[in-house]
Amino acid sequence: MTGYAHDDNIAAWLPGLRRPLEVRSAGTPEPGRGQIVIRARAVAVNPLDWIIQSAGNLAYRWLRYPTVLGTDVAGEVAAVGTGVTRFKVGDRVIGFADGTDKDTNAAARGAFQRYVVVLERLACPISDALPYERAAVLPMAVSTASSALFQTDFLGLQLPCAEPEPRDQALLVWGGSTSVGSNAIQLAVAAGYQVITTASPHNHDYVRSLGAHHAFDYNQPDVTEEICSVLDGHTFAGAMAIGTTAARHCLTVASRSTGRRFVAIATPPVSFAGLANETGRRAETRRVVCRLVASNIGLQLRARTRRVTLKYIWGSSLKHNEVSHAIFGEFLPAALADGRYRTVPEPLVVGTDYSALQHALDTQRNGVSAQKVVVTLP
Ligand SMILES: NC(=O)c1ccc[n+]([C@@H]2O[C@H](COP(=O)([O-])OP(=O)(O)OC[C@H]3O[C@@H](n4cnc5c(N)ncnc54)[C@H](OP(=O)(O)O)[C@@H]3O)[C@@H](O)[C@H]2O)c1
Repeated sequence: MTGYAHDDNIAAWLPGLRRPLEVRSAGTPEPGRGQIVIRARAVAVNPLDWIIQSAGNLAYRWLRYPTVLGTDVAGEVAAVGTGVTRFKVGDRVIGFADGTDKDTNAAARGAFQRYVVVLERLACPISDALPYERAAVLPMAVSTASSALFQTDFLGLQLPCAEPEPRDQALLVWGGSTSVGSNAIQLAVAAGYQVITTASPHNHDYVRSLGAHHAFDYNQPDVTEEICSVLDGHTFAGAMAIGTTAARHCLTVASRSTGRRFVAIATPPVSFAGLANETGRRAETRRVVCRLVASNIGLQLRARTRRVTLKYIWGSSLKHNEVSHAIFGEFLPAALADGRYRTVPEPLVVGTDYSALQHALDTQRNGVSAQKVVVTLP
């Protein structure tokens, strides 16, 4: 069932690698089986969006251009496909748009357009009281954190619930003020774990307000020593490594802990931000690739000798297993509805139209602190 006109779609297209976004019309999609179409009212920007724009040839070689970027959308359901049971036209929702995934590779599934096709299992209802620009901060961050924390081939933690049993197990979330980290803290606390985190000192009150038990400054030279000392006597539940320096520090802590010696890595040890500049780009690409390979080999060798497992997270991998339903279908709808779950980090609204999306990508690449870049849409 559809609730929109067929010449009504508009998108911020990525015409090709390292090209600026172009706003023009797009075909209006029909939802397939198990899919819904969301009429977008707000979208959020993630590092992934500008990484694909400037370095898609390294990380997303399968992408067909032109394509539509964007993973985080909030809006109302405009159409539902066959087999959809949780939503009807008009419902207010958030959704994770997986259009750039290898197994999807479809412009219709990118978030930066008026009508976005999303898998039902990656969508969550929201209340009338929750503004779209606040809700849009969640999908990628919740999905990535949940993929790391709850999938059995990652940290395999107990699932979050309304009344978690307190556990004497401590999780390390390195980079707790990031979007992903903020949500990892909330999810792990809602599953009963104690959370140790790192952030700049000006964000320590913020990460504690999300439920973190201890907050440390990741720039302090003795930060891993401090973390190991508070871990003493606790069973380690593993670590989630967010930030370019995170994996090696988490590896050090895991190697000295008792419990789950596992590090789920969100961020590669090298930044891609320099690849957006035209000047010296070829040399920078070579430098990034060499550093990436060398750092990963170094990390894996250290991990092997210290009997720690390191594994890279893929933010949407929960769509392939029961964790998507447990989080987007059960935990998150209830936790948002009764105010147990906060929509964090704070939205930083940088525009109100599709034409603002390139500026939004540039703003996110230039760096934010405990904020999520958001564009509201007409
Ligand atoms: N693998 C995946 O599927 C996947 C999915 C989503 C995101 N990611 C990656 O996860 C990372 C976080 O994404 P995001 O959107 O959550 O980021 P974000 O919100 O844009 O990150 C901003 C935050 O980064 C923190 N930060 C900067 N350098 C850091 C460091 N060395 N260690 C720890 N924290 C640091 C800053 O903390 P302070 O201001 O407190 O200093 C700031 O609050 C990115 O690298 C992103 O590419 C991966």
